[in-house]
Amino acid sequence: MTKLVVDDDVRLQAVVEANTDEMFRLVDRNRAYLREWLPWLDANRSAEDSRSFIRDSNTRASEGAGLVTAIFFRDQICGVAGFNWIDAANRACEIGYWISEDHQGRGIVTRSVRSLVGFAFDQKQLNRVTMPVAVGNTKSRGIPERLGFTSEGIRREAEWLYDHFVDHVMYAMLSADWVLPRDA
Ligand SMILES: CC(C)(COP(=O)(O)OP(=O)(O)OC[C@H]1O[C@@H](n2cnc3c(N)ncnc32)[C@H](O)[C@@H]1OP(=O)(O)O)[C@@H](O)C(=O)NCCC(=O)NCCS
Repeated sequence: MTKLVVDDDVRLQAVVEANTDEMFRLVDRNRAYLREWLPWLDANRSAEDSRSFIRDSNTRASEGAGLVTAIFFRDQICGVAGFNWIDAANRACEIGYWISEDHQGRGIVTRSVRSLVGFAFDQKQLNRVTMPVAVGNTKSRGIPERLGFTSEGIRREAEWLYDHFVDHVMYAMLSADWVLPRDA
């Protein structure tokens, strides 16, 4: 099972079915907050929905098509981060993430994503890591920007969020350009 130690407090661990109840409770507590920028909240209404998500994630991981990890902060799950998809033919992937409202503002996601990017380049031998982020999602845009990603442009009306489209900024990092940011 994939496990990445980010620092003394934070680790990423591939989701397993035993995480179901803890993950669903976290989603349920943060529902209104997460719903502003994530499209799947209305499709996740019960622990069974979280279990299905974890099962699907495990299937995709076993096929090498993605990887979903729980972000553990001192042994409690506080969010999720991972590769939404991995495109082996083009050695590319897309990173996604969320964290509970009360764990924001401490750099946990920036440090977790930094570990995932290193894992993508060093362990998975990928060449391109992408992060599409809604133009108005300032906090989320801070993560690729802090890590030195390049903004490649705007994808217009790239995502439907319940009742409106949002434009995305496409952030990307190439293996050849990856330099560990000192203060992230
Ligand atoms: C987007 C989201 C993950 C950002 O969370 P976050 O807490 O701002 O991100 P980080 O954990 O990287 O923390 C960065 C913040 O911690 C601060 N920080 C403190 N110590 C830090 C450190 N060692 N390293 C980096 N940042 C640090 C930063 O200054 C920044 O604060 P600021 O927002 O006041 O500038 C979170 O708001 C979220 O989950 N939102 C809902 C879902 C969502 O939008 N997901 C992304 C969809 S693309």
